[in-house]
This record gives sequence, structure tokens and C-alpha cells, in this order.
Amino acid sequence: MKHIVVLISGNGSNLQAIIDACQQKKINGTISAVFSNKADAFGLERAQEAGIPTHALAASEFASREAFDRQLMQEIDAYAPDVVVLAGYMRILSPAFVARYSGRLLNIHPSLLPKYPGLHTHRQVLENGDEEHGTSVHFVTDELDGGPVILQAKVPVFEGDDEDEITARVQHQEHAIYPLVVSWFLDDRLKMRQNAAWLDGVQLPPQGHAAE
Ligand code: GRF
Repeated sequence: MKHIVVLISGNGSNLQAIIDACQQKKINGTISAVFSNKADAFGLERAQEAGIPTHALAASEFASREAFDRQLMQEIDAYAPDVVVLAGYMRILSPAFVARYSGRLLNIHPSLLPKYPGLHTHRQVLENGDEEHGTSVHFVTDELDGGPVILQAKVPVFEGDDEDEITARVQHQEHAIYPLVVSWFLDDRLKMRQNAAWLDGVQLPPQGHAAE
């Protein structure tokens, strides 16, 4: 059985989608632990409900980002994860953390990367009058939201949409594509090589696998 560790900071709806996919055997693996940098993250309750061990670490108790990440790595490594999944983990990673899990570290970002790295993506889409928005699952590298894209899902933006509406539309897609990518990875179909994502031995284009 392959082991997944998930990192969250908040609601954990993507975590829930991965929990459900594991229970439904759509993912050949099990979530060994969920970590949060926020003790009150609702996602921790979702994990506990599913019988998954949880850990919360408070940044205020560490002298530096490096010290926090060192402790986090030590606790993560106790579970010997095959993949580390960032699911709404709102903390910048130290280079040592990225290096440790390089090639087995996934993130989901709510935009059609390389558009809108960073925060407030939905707001920017509305402000710029974009007609299309979406979400990207990518391998994590040292460049913030800049690692190779694996899979994107697009959503339309309708006239009069507010931030809540497009957030919900994007998240609906996230809950479909993130478990799928985790399943590809654990089935050994997905690799990161030469700063690119490869699926079934084929190098993926910059926008990731073309799934319609
Ligand atoms: C998601 O929209 C994801 O793209 C972003 O943070 C959000 C987390 O939502 N990285 P949730 O905690 O999974 O509900």
C-alpha cells in the first residue's frame, strides 16, 4: 500500500475529495497523516472523522521557517510517504523542504498557471474581466506556483459572477482533478524529470495533460 501525507491550512475540501477517492478505491493508496500549520483548520476534523492521524504545528513556536520545516519534515518522514500533497497549505516552503520531497510533492493552485501565481487569483480574474478561469495541479519546485503543470481544468466566468461563485465553480473542478492526479502518481504513471511532468512516458506540454 502506498502512503500519502497531506498538508492543509484550512477547510480541506480537496483533502476530503482525496479521502473519498481512497475510500472508493479510486486511489491505490492510503492517507497516513494530515498536517496543518493551523490548529483550528476544519480539514483536521475531516481527517479525524475518517480515522486519519492529524498533527498541527504552530509557526509561532519556531525561530525560523527553516526550523519549522525541519520539524515538519521529521514528523512527515515518520510516515515514509510516497507522495506529499499540498491541499490549501498556505505557507511558503523552505528550499530544504522542497528538495527533500522533490518529484513527489504536489500542489493545487486556483488559476490557469502560469497566469496568476500567488494569492487572490479569483479576484484578479474578475478585475481583469477574464472569460475563462480554472485550476492547476503541478509538481512543486523552488519557484512559487511555478513547477511543471500536470493537469488543468477550465471553468467559464459569467457576467455578474462574484468571487464566491467562481471559487465554488473552480473548487468543483479541483475535487475531480486532484484525486485523479494523485492516483496517476501512485500508479507510477507520473514523473517529474528535467523540470517537466511526464505521464505514461510522454512529456506533458506547459499547460499539462490535455483532458477534455
Ligand atoms: C483551493 O482552492 C486550492 O486551489 C488552494 O487553496 C484552496 C484550498 O481549499 N491552494 P480547501 O482547503 O481544499 O477547501
